[in-house]
Amino acid sequence: MKYRGIIFDLDGVICSTDHYHYLAWKKLADKLGIYFDETINNRLRGVSRMASLEIILERCDRTLTEEEKLAAAEEKNNTYRELLKEMSEADLAPEVKETLDALRAGGLLLGIGSSSKNTKFILSQIGLGDYFDAISDGTNITRSKPDPEVFLKGAEYLGLPAADCLVVEDAEAGIQAAAAAGMDSAGIGEAAKSSLATYQLTTFRDLLKVSLQ
Ligand code: BG6
Ligand code: MG
Repeated sequence: MKYRGIIFDLDGVICSTDHYHYLAWKKLADKLGIYFDETINNRLRGVSRMASLEIILERCDRTLTEEEKLAAAEEKNNTYRELLKEMSEADLAPEVKETLDALRAGGLLLGIGSSSKNTKFILSQIGLGDYFDAISDGTNITRSKPDPEVFLKGAEYLGLPAADCLVVEDAEAGIQAAAAAGMDSAGIGEAAKSSLATYQLTTFRDLLKVSLQ
């Protein structure tokens, strides 16, 4: 087989949290009197919480202190986590679960490589709390995608050389991070348009074709 492990981004790949992020950032932006819409929200994909806040603050007419920024990010996260409580196993698409099971049955190790500090909470909400062989997330990195750190740590936690891992991503920043880590990548959703992606996936199930060969 070409790969020994697959490292999945979480948000937008394993499950969809975009709308919850949008609602939580929108509530904060409205409170601060800053214009925010779905197009700006798309720029936050794969980007860390603090870097996302900086993007939102591009339209703010005053400069926030570091303390105010931390408070704003915490407020957004509290709103976001309240919304995440609504997630359940119903938010895990059968196609995703069946594909993951087939990849594992095919002998591949499965890991997560996500910028989110809420990774473990989200995984437990959708019934995958104990599912993955390794989790590298926002809690164990110092640099966010497009830096390769999250994927390099993911490979290390899986006990595999980076070159033996395939990354699955929905964000351009994540495809860039995989390339910087020396890993092949499969782009899905928005990232399926990326010319840097090794494979362009139409559906999650397409992973079976590219990785079980
Ligand atoms: C990424 C999302 O997975 O996690 C980003 O695509 C988000 O939109 C980032 O900003 C950080 O998430 P969290 O849960 O730590 O605020
Ligand atoms: Mg993503």
